[in-house]
Amino acid sequence: RDIAVVLGTRPEIIKLAPLIRLLGDRGRIVHTGQHYDSALSGAFFANFGLREPELRLDGAAGAGGRGDQIGTLTRDLARAFTAEPPRAVVVQGDTNSTSAGAQAAHYCGIPVVHVEAGLRSGDRAMPEEINRLVVGVLADAHCAATAEAAANLRATGTDGDRIRITGNTVVEATLHSLPAPAERDRIVRELGAPADFVLATAHRPENTDRPDRLAALLGSLAELGELGHPVLLPLHPRTRGRVKEFGMEHLLAGLTVVDPVDHPTFLALADRAALLVSDSGGVQEEATVLKKPLLVVRTSTERPEAVAAGFSRLVEPGAELTAAARALLADDGLAGRLRDTPSPYGDGRASERIRAIAVALADGAPLPGDA
Ligand code: UD1
Ligand code: UDP
Repeated sequence: RDIAVVLGTRPEIIKLAPLIRLLGDRGRIVHTGQHYDSALSGAFFANFGLREPELRLDGAAGAGGRGDQIGTLTRDLARAFTAEPPRAVVVQGDTNSTSAGAQAAHYCGIPVVHVEAGLRSGDRAMPEEINRLVVGVLADAHCAATAEAAANLRATGTDGDRIRITGNTVVEATLHSLPAPAERDRIVRELGAPADFVLATAHRPENTDRPDRLAALLGSLAELGELGHPVLLPLHPRTRGRVKEFGMEHLLAGLTVVDPVDHPTFLALADRAALLVSDSGGVQEEATVLKKPLLVVRTSTERPEAVAAGFSRLVEPGAELTAAARALLADDGLAGRLRDTPSPYGDGRASERIRAIAVALADGAPLPGDA
């Protein structure tokens, strides 16, 4: 097991699972422990039939803040890589686990493959944007999902020979997890999702940590219910914590709030929903595979391809969100237009390309694929 795959949060597990399966006996799963609840971690290992990680760290030491979490994980990962050196380390995305994984590998002299490289929101207030920049400097192979992401990397001085356009592994993860149509109906019925429902998620600090924005978001979701489109909200623990801290439990009253659901359940709900409302990165990509309209409650996005293709649109929480939702829900031609629009995130074979890149890097061979 000489190719270590570092992951720590829900989206990393989802997007790296197809690659881990392809790596077979060469893959070594290293879980940082950043997400530790079964609903954010174990459930996804089960969804993808992944074995227990070869190594599990205590990433929840992050209670002390970003420096503490990234610092502790970098130290612990570096110790593990020193004790049993892999020949390549794969990291995905832009979380604190991603940053720590890339730093630890680099400081140990081990080549780093960055999956989903080159995303840029331009918003330095986002922890993820800084993590992307840090990992972009350290990585030895950059697996960009799209041509735009590759251009972002070149614009920040990355050697073009180290960049490959692979597509995003979320496409194959979605195709793997999406239940058959009859099963989708069963899931929707079993969860008690109302007719014409809107599926929403929220966990970005820009929405959860500012009481005014959180109140505006929850207020506009409740308003959609009053307009005949009740909102189903699988609530992320960060958001649940802030709702409690700010004394906003009453703002959840008009919504159907459930705990985070597993990947097949989420995709079934997303497929059957009339509209998606989210600040999630992964959901912006999945909307393009499921052909669903999405309102992104953000001031910026690192996924402009989904906006350009007509799947998503940025909105402010509050009146703008409510008005945009009403317009989309009244647009009879929308579903047909989206059905015929290809996903900008690839063909479902990104993991195969990334596997070949990781193996080449581990074996000291030239990187395969187009430069
Ligand atoms: C993290 C990532 C974010 C990613 C998201 C996916 C960073 C900086 N952020 O955000 O990029 O989009 O994961 O969901 O890496 N908590 C639990 N149970 C858990 C994990 C967390 O209750 O299993 C609670 C804890 O109170 C914790 C808070 O959620 O302090 C936030 O968790 P954390 O991992 O720091 O950030 P996320 O908001 O989940
Ligand atoms: N997701 C899920 N259950 C939920 C909410 C989301 O399985 O209750 C999945 C969703 O399908 C997507 C991923 O989680 O693949 C997105 O993760 P998240 O929004 O936590 O992180 P981000 O993508 O914003 O980094």
